[in-house]
Amino acid sequence: MRKLLKSYWHKGGARIGLKDRTANNVHAAFVEEAKAHQRLLLFAKKAEEEDLPQIAHLFRAVATAEGVHSRRHFALLEGVANTQTNLEKAFQSETAVNGVHYPKMLREAEEDGEEAATLVFSQARDVEDGHAKLYRKALNHIIAERSTEYYVCTVCGYVAERKPPETCPICNAPESKFHKAD
Ligand SMILES: [Fe+2]
Ligand SMILES: [Fe+2]
Repeated sequence: MRKLLKSYWHKGGARIGLKDRTANNVHAAFVEEAKAHQRLLLFAKKAEEEDLPQIAHLFRAVATAEGVHSRRHFALLEGVANTQTNLEKAFQSETAVNGVHYPKMLREAEEDGEEAATLVFSQARDVEDGHAKLYRKALNHIIAERSTEYYVCTVCGYVAERKPPETCPICNAPESKFHKAD
C-alpha cells in the first residue's frame, strides 16, 4: 500500500530535488501525520459521543496541528503550481485512481473475501469518477462564470452540485448526511 501511495505521489508531483533517502523520510512523515490527523478527528468524534467535549476539543486541536505537519511535509515533496495546472493534475489523479488503482484494489479485496474493503473500494472508485467529471467541467470553463454550491456525502465522499440529493447515488445515505462545502 505504501508503495502504491508513493507511486501516486511521485507521478503527480513536481519533486523539489530532495535526495532519495530524505524524500522517502519526508514521504513517510507525511503519511504518518496525515494518518494521525484523521485518527484524531475520529477520536474527537468518539469523545463527543461519550459526552467528553473537552477531550474532543483537545483531539481536534492536536489533529489540526498534525494537519499543519502533514501539509508542511507535502510542501517539501511537491510544489503547488497555478490553478489551470492544478485542475489538470487533480483530474488526472482522479482518473488514475478511478480507472486503475481502485479497480485493482477492489479486485484484490474481492479475491481476499474482504467484504468491508470491497464495498469501500467500490464506492470510492465510483465517487472518484464523479470528482473527475467535476474537474473536467471546470477545465472546460463550464462553471467559470457562475457560482455553484457543492454538497459532500460524509459517508462515501460523493460530491453533488447545486443541492444535495434525497439519497446518495453511490451509497444511499440520506440527504442529512450531506455537508455543504466551504
Ligand atoms: Fe476524488
Ligand atoms: Fe454517499
